[in-house]
Amino acid sequence: QSEDTINVCGKDYAKDEWTNVTPNILSKTSRKLHLHPSHPISIIRQRIENHFATFKPLNKFEPTVTTKMNFDDLCIPADHPTRVKSDNYYINATNMLRAHTSAHQLQGLESGATKFLISGDVYRRDEIDSSHYPVFHQMEGLQYFDMGPKITAKQVQDDIASQAELAANTVQLVDDTLIKPENPIQDRHAPEAAQAVVAHLKHSLNSMVRALFKDEPNLQVRWIDAYFPFTSPSWEMEIFYQGEWLEICGCGIVRQDLMDAAGKPACSINMDPPSLHNTNALLLKKGLQNKIGWAFGCGLERLSMVLFDIPDIRLFWSEDERFLSQFAAGEIVKFKPFSKFPPCLKDISFWLPEKEWNENNFCEIVRGVAGDIVENVTKIDDFTHPKTQKRSVCYRITYRSMDRNVTNEEINAIQEKVRSTVEEDLSVQLR
Ligand code: PHE
Repeated sequence: QSEDTINVCGKDYAKDEWTNVTPNILSKTSRKLHLHPSHPISIIRQRIENHFATFKPLNKFEPTVTTKMNFDDLCIPADHPTRVKSDNYYINATNMLRAHTSAHQLQGLESGATKFLISGDVYRRDEIDSSHYPVFHQMEGLQYFDMGPKITAKQVQDDIASQAELAANTVQLVDDTLIKPENPIQDRHAPEAAQAVVAHLKHSLNSMVRALFKDEPNLQVRWIDAYFPFTSPSWEMEIFYQGEWLEICGCGIVRQDLMDAAGKPACSINMDPPSLHNTNALLLKKGLQNKIGWAFGCGLERLSMVLFDIPDIRLFWSEDERFLSQFAAGEIVKFKPFSKFPPCLKDISFWLPEKEWNENNFCEIVRGVAGDIVENVTKIDDFTHPKTQKRSVCYRITYRSMDRNVTNEEINAIQEKVRSTVEEDLSVQLR
């Protein structure tokens, strides 16, 4: 490995001006928490796989993907904001650590399975608090049916009826309230077929959360209209848990361009929004264009934190026996916190540079210097000088270890390093 290359998951890549992966992040790619049988993330993965017992599980994809897989193949346009460098971990201009398991949808379709699950670690640059960590895990699900109003409705009904334990739940296949101009059914889909698939999707996710939360029979679920470039219509599913609506997953009807592209060179993907589709494309006879499917993507940390009572997302990465020994394959138990060690708070304030300022870049530096000892970063002051128009901000950094007392001395050393790195890399003026 030379200065100009970087090794990720055993492969060398040429660095360029997009490269922003850090050693701290790269060290996570080998952990594979979702594959350790007695780890909470893996226990939830297995529960979902058991629930969708007839789906093909795909768990072994490496987190290194091309930007084409993460974005282009999913109809995410070249200028879409989710591509920005400050939200993603790029290996170089054309390779990255996947930001979602949807990056493997096409591979799933090409595996030949008509229903499959994909789990894996995903990477996003983000803020720092007890529920955000730059690496987390997702479970993707996808199922498709033969297209055509009659055939789809019948298949969907038969499929639901065949799920023995759910037979008592009849699903209403046609629900006019599902059609909203701002969350449209795709032109390529007959409304009756799309509605049958939407009903199947909602039924499938409802029964999944009911199975996961079988000790909470009154769990409330709601569906919020959403937008994803790769599904239409789209929703976010939320559950009401301990007084709060929690987003559990994103989902929707798979963009037909994706089904068309499966097995064909993916450059044929149509980037236009669904409503602009050419219905003549229905006449095409290759790929999966006569199939219609749904997809979902769930965050596994979110579900695990709720089901195991795990209060801080950093705990999932702990190698401390006091954490790991509490869990056993197949079991959901409540986490017993070991005593919380005292925090150490440090403030940092600085004048922002003239050029563009991005908070994620700041958080990334704090993560890079302090690692998992940083618990929270919160902006506590933000003011613009009335005369000079210069803007000054102050952040409070909470340092706390999960497994030991930290000394003021060691935190001072870390804070000093944070200060000098921020000053150097972000050209701010420390105060
Ligand atoms: N990939 C989306 C996300 O990470 C979730 C999603 C998956 C939405 C599949 C629709 C279909 O937010």
